[in-house]
Amino acid sequence: MNTQLRFPTLYEPVRKVIPAPDWMMFEDDIGAILRLKQERNAVILAHNYQTPEIFHGVADIVGDSLALARKAVEVDADVIVLAGVHFMAETAKLLNPEKTVLIPDLAAGCSLADSITPEDIALLRQAHPGVPVVTYVNTSAAVKAASDICCTSGNARQVVESLGVPRVLMLPDEYLARNVARETDVELIAWHGHCEVHELFTAEDVRELRASWPGVTILAHPECPPEVVAEADFSGSTAVMSGYVGTNRPSRVVLLTECSMSDNVAVDHPDVEFIRPCNLCPHMKRISLANIREALELNRHEVTVDPAIAEPARRAVERMLAV
Ligand code: 13P
Ligand code: SF4
Repeated sequence: MNTQLRFPTLYEPVRKVIPAPDWMMFEDDIGAILRLKQERNAVILAHNYQTPEIFHGVADIVGDSLALARKAVEVDADVIVLAGVHFMAETAKLLNPEKTVLIPDLAAGCSLADSITPEDIALLRQAHPGVPVVTYVNTSAAVKAASDICCTSGNARQVVESLGVPRVLMLPDEYLARNVARETDVELIAWHGHCEVHELFTAEDVRELRASWPGVTILAHPECPPEVVAEADFSGSTAVMSGYVGTNRPSRVVLLTECSMSDNVAVDHPDVEFIRPCNLCPHMKRISLANIREALELNRHEVTVDPAIAEPARRAVERMLAV
């Protein structure tokens, strides 16, 4: 154990993914954040794509979008800091209207959330009368309010099938809809939104990985194009991918998703070799220890949702959580 460090027990598990000099630079912010959490009765919810010093250093609750939404309901604190992107903070606010929800950088958006508006949904409903609308949680509160029920990559098939109808509008991620369509008899009508991180992976990448890394197990997020998912060994949400590594202990693995995932999962599985052809999410990477500290010090940036939108949006999220 490195005795020059202020937080050697926090550092120990992450030492393979964070060099000691880098960790030493983080310690001032980590110390301040740990103190501010106590002073403000705050908790930090962090998505699996957050960097390891956030994920393992200061977060109280970590997980995929579904887990963060579920756990947001149970939070016993005055302040929630969402280390993730804006739609996640909005979802936490919808489920905790009386709490202060902060996002360290308001510009942490999402290409999927930006791909669709409530007006688009109104036009789709006109074109497909009576067809229920399932929206991915990667959408604005206004879009959630215009939909019947939400889903995440962790429960999309179950949500679609829970409706008991032959046809569903599944928005806005075209690839998620096409990947789920392969697993269900429900006909899915898709939109043309894409995740700017996952759309970059190709089936050719998968073939090259297999050729270069014999015996590798390839896991792909369902926001990847369907031909990538088809050639991968397994597909699931970020939490499901992490669970797969823990249960199956592949000797060598690739996670076709955002870069920080492999670092965070590798911390818990030092015996697994992670091959890292990853893509960075510029939105997730806007969050840092420095702006988490500022969020708590300066109470910024508070996320609010117009009450007229919040009520129907909350209904769509709660309906999903009940599935
Ligand atoms: P999940 O963590 O729900 O799999 O979502 C991935 C994602 O891209 C969130 O922005
Ligand atoms: Fe959005 Fe893709 Fe970034 Fe997730 S990884 S926040 S879906 S742009």
